[in-house]
Amino acid sequence: MRIGFPMESAPAESRVAATPKTVGQLIKLGYEVVVEEGAGAKASYPDSQYAEQGADIVGRAVAWAADVVCKINTPIPAELDAMREGATLVAMVEAPRSPDMLDDLAKRGLTVLAMDSVPRISRAQSLDVLSSMANIGGYRAVIEAAHEFGSFFTGQVTAAGKVPPARVFVSGAGVAGLAAIGTANSLGAVVHATDIRPEVAEQVESMGASFVAVTVDEEQTSADGYAKEASAAYASAAEVMYAEQAKVSDIIITTALIPGKPAPRLITEDMVASMKPGSVIVDMAAGSGGNVAGSVADKMVITTGGVKIIGYTDLAGRLPTQASQLYATNIVNLMKLLTPEKDGVLTLDMSDVVQRAMTVVGDGEVMWPPPQVAVSATPAAPAQAPVVATKETKKRSPMVTWAMMGLCVLALLAVFWKSPPDLLGHFMVFMLSVVIGYYVIGNVNHSLHTPLMSVTNAISGIIIVGALIGLSATTVPMVVAILSITGILLASINIFGGFLVTQRMLKMFRKA
Ligand code: NAI
Repeated sequence: MRIGFPMESAPAESRVAATPKTVGQLIKLGYEVVVEEGAGAKASYPDSQYAEQGADIVGRAVAWAADVVCKINTPIPAELDAMREGATLVAMVEAPRSPDMLDDLAKRGLTVLAMDSVPRISRAQSLDVLSSMANIGGYRAVIEAAHEFGSFFTGQVTAAGKVPPARVFVSGAGVAGLAAIGTANSLGAVVHATDIRPEVAEQVESMGASFVAVTVDEEQTSADGYAKEASAAYASAAEVMYAEQAKVSDIIITTALIPGKPAPRLITEDMVASMKPGSVIVDMAAGSGGNVAGSVADKMVITTGGVKIIGYTDLAGRLPTQASQLYATNIVNLMKLLTPEKDGVLTLDMSDVVQRAMTVVGDGEVMWPPPQVAVSATPAAPAQAPVVATKETKKRSPMVTWAMMGLCVLALLAVFWKSPPDLLGHFMVFMLSVVIGYYVIGNVNHSLHTPLMSVTNAISGIIIVGALIGLSATTVPMVVAILSITGILLASINIFGGFLVTQRMLKMFRKA
């Protein structure tokens, strides 16, 4: 069979449904591939690269006349007129929002596989364009915010003064929200995030943000594990939280969506007005009604208070090379599923829930909505708390503790009585070093332990010098010799081990 990749006709669309790499993969599945001339130009994939991988570069009419036509956006009627009856269309069609269009597609005798109707089950993740595009969108939302924000994301201490890090608040910790959290965190911002589904708190924290919970006495997750509309109690508790966050945040990124419903309104006009001038809001839900009062789809609005509200709906398309590669890989994974024999023949199996859910029109018949599929976002039941056999620990009486301390002090006094006068001075220095070292090293962040190790190399050096001086005396008592040699050995291990680990760490940052 022949698969055609026409150029996207929407003027703002810069992505393409095939890349040179995926063309090669489709040919290996037994398909003949045709790509419309210039289809990948906006995504930096020239025709020559497609041709090198075995695709034929063809005119518009030939690409549309293929047995299977793969696209990103829903075709316009003029494009559909160019399709053959009985052909298969693979594209994002927004089936729930377009019943009339589904009727039209059915009348044309087409089979339509909707890339945006992939059921959200683990097995189908490799075909899920909503996830792959949301991931890119979340990343790009932060980049757009950083572009409009007039300060650093990361905190800095410079000769000219101290710059605090930007404070970013992310609402909705699904695929896009988690990508935004990861990106903002990697740019050095202090990130906070919330979600109506409390079970995502751990994921939020694992991406480096603090989870801001809205505490209400009721379950906010629907039976399928996805968000449902917020209850009145949740909404009013959330309003207080959003008002507090708006006052202290420099950047707000909202990604909250509820499947099949308009986006929940989370940030009110008053909250926007309470933000500092120069703050930026990216409303990733602007295309579905918006999470933010005053956001306009595809536009950036600047409020009278100087807050920028970005409502771009083409965030994934703003990284066209990567977005095309991921979308095209999703298509290859779909074709692998539909071509089990690798013979270049597309075979639909309606007993497979993934294929059934994606088939919104089959052989001229509207097949939307599909039977419901149990999705995999349902939170796992909380594990039963393990029953631990408790052992009663005997508490030592304070009298015994005081007695032991008293004995230690007496023993020390006895030692000092019989030892040379220098020992007391050395002992005091030693005790002070232990106390200071404990507080200095104990308070060092874990991530700084390697540089700290380099510093301890210097201390180990002093130990070696001291031990060598001890050994260089004309008569060295046995105990001094043993202590000096042990000190030299341990300090050397510390020095050489420290250098080895530091070298390894430095290698990780060196460009190949
Ligand atoms: P989404 O795009 O539908 O929603 C975005 C986020 O907004 C969700 O986390 C949702 O809980 C949150 N939200 C909705 N209403 C809110 C409100 N009033 N306040 C605050 N937050 C609100 O969700 P997305 O990103 O598509 O994924 C949701 C879940 O599904 C994720 O946990 C993800 O891991 C899972 N998933 C599973 C897939 C699979 O197994 N194939 C594929 C994609 C997602």
